[in-house]
Amino acid sequence: MQTHDIRKRFLDHFIKAGHTEVPSASLILDDPNLLFVNAGMVPFKPYFLGEQTPPYDRATSVQKCVRTLDIDEVGITTRHNTFFQMAGNFSFGDYFKREAIGFAWSLLTNSVEDGGYGIDPQKLWPTVYLDDDEAEAIWRDEIGVPAERIQRRGLKDNYWSMGVPGPCGPCSEIFYDRGPEYGIEGGPEADEDRYIEIWNLVFMQNVRGEGGGKDNYEILGPLPKKNIDTGMGIERVACILQGVDNVYETDLLKPVIDLAAELTGRAYGADHDDDVKFRVIADHTRTAAMLIGDGVLPGNDGRGYVLRRLLRRVVRSARLLGADAPTMGAFIGRAVDLMAPAYPELADKRGHIVSVGIGEEASFSKTLAAGSKLFADAADATKAAKRSTISGSDAFTLHDTYGFPIDLTLEMAAEAGLQVDQDGFTSLMAEQKQRAKADASARKTGHADAGVYRDFLDRGPTEFTGFDELMSEARVLGLVSDGVRVPVATAGQELTVVLDRTPLYAESGGQIADTGTITTGSGVRLRVQDVQKLGKTLWLHKVVVDEGEITEGDEVIAAVDAGWRHGATQGHSGTHMVHAALRQVLGPGATQAGSLNRPGYLRFDFHQGSPLTEAQRREIEEISNAAVEANHQVNTFETGVAEAKAMGALALFGENYGDVVRVVEIGGPFSMELCGGTHVASSAQIGPITVIGESSVGSGVRRVEAYVGMDSFRYLSKERALMAGLASSLKVPSDEVPGRVEQLVTRLRDAEKQLEKVRAEAARAAAGSLLDDAVTVGDTLVVGGQLPDLDANGLRSVVTDLRARVADRKAVVALFSSTGDGADTKVPFVIATTGAARDGGIKAGDLVKEIAPLVGGRGGGKPDLAQGSGTDPQGISAAATRIRELVG
Ligand code: ALA
Repeated sequence: MQTHDIRKRFLDHFIKAGHTEVPSASLILDDPNLLFVNAGMVPFKPYFLGEQTPPYDRATSVQKCVRTLDIDEVGITTRHNTFFQMAGNFSFGDYFKREAIGFAWSLLTNSVEDGGYGIDPQKLWPTVYLDDDEAEAIWRDEIGVPAERIQRRGLKDNYWSMGVPGPCGPCSEIFYDRGPEYGIEGGPEADEDRYIEIWNLVFMQNVRGEGGGKDNYEILGPLPKKNIDTGMGIERVACILQGVDNVYETDLLKPVIDLAAELTGRAYGADHDDDVKFRVIADHTRTAAMLIGDGVLPGNDGRGYVLRRLLRRVVRSARLLGADAPTMGAFIGRAVDLMAPAYPELADKRGHIVSVGIGEEASFSKTLAAGSKLFADAADATKAAKRSTISGSDAFTLHDTYGFPIDLTLEMAAEAGLQVDQDGFTSLMAEQKQRAKADASARKTGHADAGVYRDFLDRGPTEFTGFDELMSEARVLGLVSDGVRVPVATAGQELTVVLDRTPLYAESGGQIADTGTITTGSGVRLRVQDVQKLGKTLWLHKVVVDEGEITEGDEVIAAVDAGWRHGATQGHSGTHMVHAALRQVLGPGATQAGSLNRPGYLRFDFHQGSPLTEAQRREIEEISNAAVEANHQVNTFETGVAEAKAMGALALFGENYGDVVRVVEIGGPFSMELCGGTHVASSAQIGPITVIGESSVGSGVRRVEAYVGMDSFRYLSKERALMAGLASSLKVPSDEVPGRVEQLVTRLRDAEKQLEKVRAEAARAAAGSLLDDAVTVGDTLVVGGQLPDLDANGLRSVVTDLRARVADRKAVVALFSSTGDGADTKVPFVIATTGAARDGGIKAGDLVKEIAPLVGGRGGGKPDLAQGSGTDPQGISAAATRIRELVG
């Protein structure tokens, strides 16, 4: 039965029983406690809580849900989806336990001809809450489920809440027995992989309070009425009715797996690790499509982060499967086409959804290879230093520069058997946030308190004298402290000063504010730390009173720090030089997207899809430095905006200029821009310009950064010292350093290969003796033992090698290793079976599951090959014994 049909039958069944069909709500609901809608009942919460009166007593819906808590389980277990459709029926103070149980049972077990799912009743196992005798009696006496198939479970399993304060209640879950090939007997209490939960009936009757986890909260009291909330997992029912092994192979997900196999050239079903990646691709692309469809865009926090993480996991999985071209467009397109029959709005948004996916893939692809390399280097260095934790600063760089969501780094670390210094990472993130916040609040205060400045704004603009002089006489128009107008301020106080005129440049056009002083003839001294404009016309000086007492109305001298200003003009004129050079090299399409300059440093953002090549970067440096050396006169003049544009002066797209604009011209046609900044008098004053970096800042925007003036010189001088240091440690002249390094790297690589070979040989030699020691249990040959210091890959290759040597026998090969020590101890193990052993019913996957707990770990795999990892080497011998018992 197709998924869409399962959905339709559900709704029909409940509509027939007097329920109103309610369409799925968006995944994004305005609930501060929830990132995404994660259950069918979420849209009905106000009805349960009695905050609103429902327009119906009975409702049914199939709700889109996203849960990402178990994202690590996706593809590994058979039943975890990050997006799923929860089919539900709801009663708001109408029917209760008896009817809810009856409705569910009839839909599940009625024949297909009768509109049901036709499930064999013998396969269904209900659970009830510990003390819920009533529900148990209904199942046993009214429905007729034998008592031994009804299990009682505690708070964690059979008491449902949204995980946050809100409605809750005991529940009764219905499990389907998939048969002995999926696990041990004993009902859901024993094995939730074999007995898979398909439907949860919640008897919603209480309100829960704050607290953590599934069982650590207080019940605050009863709801106004007794209600029913149920949730049936459509994907899980599909898995059962379609007779497939796991939810990823159902009809709405498998086509994406097939597409991934086609596009990567790798087969699905051939290798456990690959299969996990295929399933991740299918699961995550669909979730991403549904999220984008509901308006989420990739970002760095909240919902956007979850979406970004999902998309980036897809990109990485596809690359690891061998895709070397973009695949996201195809994946997402297919996911949309598969889901659109149930959610027609997806079809309308198809173009948008696909393009958001493609955009994210493109931006991550740019840094994925470089980031993966940085990760691999960091992981190697960590291991070489015999440490087990990747530094917080590496994780931060991966996040900040290469766009690796921290969770992705954590996953990659786990794959490599390492941890990450998460505290270090978090504190670097916090520092960065703090900087951004300080920046934003410094900007904001002026605007937030516009009321205080109303009088000044009405009085007219501050006269800016700073193009012509660095020191001006002025009068204090007002003092504002903590958002309040004050008549006077004394030493130590921080406040904002408004003057009638000022030479101090206020931050704008990418140039940061001047620093300087405000003094009086009688010894009052204020240090100006920042200057911001309010409403483009009013200059707000953020000052600290160093000495004396300043009073409104005082006559003062406002002075710019000349050294600072000199540096600032170098930075700003340097920006114009780099801009002009960029346009010469890249053409007029490379338009300005933003800029920032401060003494000694500049950065310039521009629209351009691809990174600068090394040659382009050199050319930009060459052209801008040549223009510096030409010592062009810098001319500034005012003119009409139309005239300025006609002259070819560059304006910032989208910027709102007044009628009269200021034009800054350096070297005639070389550089002409509309600009309100301060500049050097002639270009040679800029000093050398050194481009120090080029990077991406979002899609289609790149950034160059450069030093100017003495900072440029100091940078080069430092580089030279570095090179001299390298030359001296390598004992070669500077220009031979690159060759020497290359030679060393090659040697190192050769040595590593050699070492790898020696290790493999040693393992093989040891493996040979394992064959000699093999024992025969019944008619099965068991080759087992422990090899030192091998990881899962190494172990697997020895195991498959050994199996090949006993391929013609009924044999099981089971090897353990142990690496690291203390808390870092790992006990990888791999089990393989020969064809004859499998014919005899021996499955490697089952053996692994059985013995994993004995070495304190977990694992799984296929009948022919399975693996796992534990933490307790003491358990190896018990595990080996257990294997012999199990095959005997
Ligand atoms: N609200 C219940 C659940 O999500 C039905 O499991």
